[in-house]
Amino acid sequence: MGLQKIEESIYEEATSLTDFEQELYVTKGLFSVLLSNIEQRPVTIQRFFIATHQQLFRIISLAITGFDTPVSHLGLEESKSSLESLVFIYDHSLAPIIKAQNEVLDIRFRKTITQATSYLENHTDFDTFDRFVFIRDYMNPITGHWVKIRQQSQLWEPVTSEPFNFDAPTFFEDNSFNIGYFTPATNLNPTRKQIALGKKLFFDKRLSTSNSMSCATCHIPEKGYADGMALNPDNKGRPLQRNTPTLINSVFQQSFFWDGRSESIIDQISSVFTNDKEFASNVHEFSEAILEDPTYVSEFKTAFGKTPTKNTELIKAISSYISTLNGFNSKFDRNIRGEENTFTAEETLGLNLFMGKALCATCHFMPLTNGTVPPFFKETEREVIGTPKTADNKTLDDDLGFYWKYQEPLHKGLFKTPTLRNVALTAPYMHNGVYSTLEEVLNFYNLGGGSGMGFDLKYQTLPFSALNLTEAEQKAIIAYLKTLNDSEVETPY
Ligand code: HEC
Ligand code: HEC
Repeated sequence: MGLQKIEESIYEEATSLTDFEQELYVTKGLFSVLLSNIEQRPVTIQRFFIATHQQLFRIISLAITGFDTPVSHLGLEESKSSLESLVFIYDHSLAPIIKAQNEVLDIRFRKTITQATSYLENHTDFDTFDRFVFIRDYMNPITGHWVKIRQQSQLWEPVTSEPFNFDAPTFFEDNSFNIGYFTPATNLNPTRKQIALGKKLFFDKRLSTSNSMSCATCHIPEKGYADGMALNPDNKGRPLQRNTPTLINSVFQQSFFWDGRSESIIDQISSVFTNDKEFASNVHEFSEAILEDPTYVSEFKTAFGKTPTKNTELIKAISSYISTLNGFNSKFDRNIRGEENTFTAEETLGLNLFMGKALCATCHFMPLTNGTVPPFFKETEREVIGTPKTADNKTLDDDLGFYWKYQEPLHKGLFKTPTLRNVALTAPYMHNGVYSTLEEVLNFYNLGGGSGMGFDLKYQTLPFSALNLTEAEQKAIIAYLKTLNDSEVETPY
């Protein structure tokens, strides 16, 4: 539904006029809802700053990547209009205040916009557009100035109910996101002691009744908090159903597990304890074991002010620890922030393909590279891409993913889009660990995923057509993916 669909109908010319008219009719309905919503909600200062911030984010994550306009590729042209309208609303609101207080800021801000729009005017080809240069040299300065303008105006103190840290000068800082927004309400602002306790528990094998398994048995720090295995064995030595995912930046998701079945990290961790293939302990047994240890008892008392009787505090401590496992200091981050200039030509090409022609960033959204959809970050998308059962790509995997929930044919093989940060450390790949190298993954995408390989996948959400990436282009994307490794992800406590 909506504009994306209409765009497809116009630019792909395969839609009948009646269907097209129906799409228009539905979209017109959506517009009237939108209009009445707008009428009921006056533009407040708060809405003004949130909306403008979101719009800048949309440009880098949705517009220049082709997400908004997958077929026409008009996203580049639209970004220009979008930036021009930022100046337009600025002129009709804040400009007089800023000019009076800090004329240099006013001049510099306008200059950054003019430079960006003229860059967009002179670089219109979607496939060759240099996203790296555009973001680093044009969008980052705009964001930085917009933050300064807000601060200078002193009209609004940022709220913490939004996904953004409104004071971060770019969207690529290690604190650009507001972790509190992504954390369950019961778990807000954990203390150092709670985090340190969570860390200790994370590595403690006494968590499991068999005394042989801790979280770190499968989520190994040196392996990007994955385990290097296709499928880790359960406590009886049988392979688990799915590959162990990384925990780095996992807090920035609205659903957990490969099929997205858990909606919060707390829910997710609780299920480890009750899953008889993992800890084979129900929650209560687990707590008792820990409570026999006087050291833990006193640590729980200091961290939570009470002796725990249920596992609530345990899970809270562990999930607080996990939410500190964030890294935004990879080579990519440092380069896109302009802190260092060490990207090779191949890595730059790889990033540009990733965010352009190869369409990767239309699912692996920048800069998190997971499926949590900007700019609201309210849901984490699942997709059907047609992952095969074995690496010879002859049969489709029979794991149906999210289908179990509603038994809708549309949901067969639906899996959560995972983060690609630290992906070079977390082989093998996909929910079933089918591919052991990134080369195999790239080959899969290049062929058009499962349906491109000939599997019967009517509802594949990955475009069916081959990407036609050359050998060198595939290598470049891999070179780029390797720049997403965090040099160090360890909690400071
Ligand atoms: C035996 C191996 C194993 C152990 C032990 C284990 N995990 Fe996992 N973990 C997995 C696997 C496999 C998945 C993916 C399961 C799925 O998607 O169905 C997973 C998924 C997760 C996820 C979801 C990540 C995401 O992005 O969706 C989190 C968080 C997590 N584990 C945390 C923990 C914590 C905390 C512990 C200790 C309390 C733990 N795990 C113990 C193997 C393990
Ligand atoms: C239509 C959405 C979509 C697009 C486009 C897409 N991906 Fe993915 N990607 C996914 C999903 C969903 C998974 C998990 C699939 C599974 O496990 O079966 C995934 C998994 C991966 C993995 C494995 C990660 C891991 O930890 O196991 C890599 C690597 C990857 N994608 C890279 C890419 C690259 C490179 C591109 C561009 C060439 C790309 N993706 C395009 C949705 C997408």
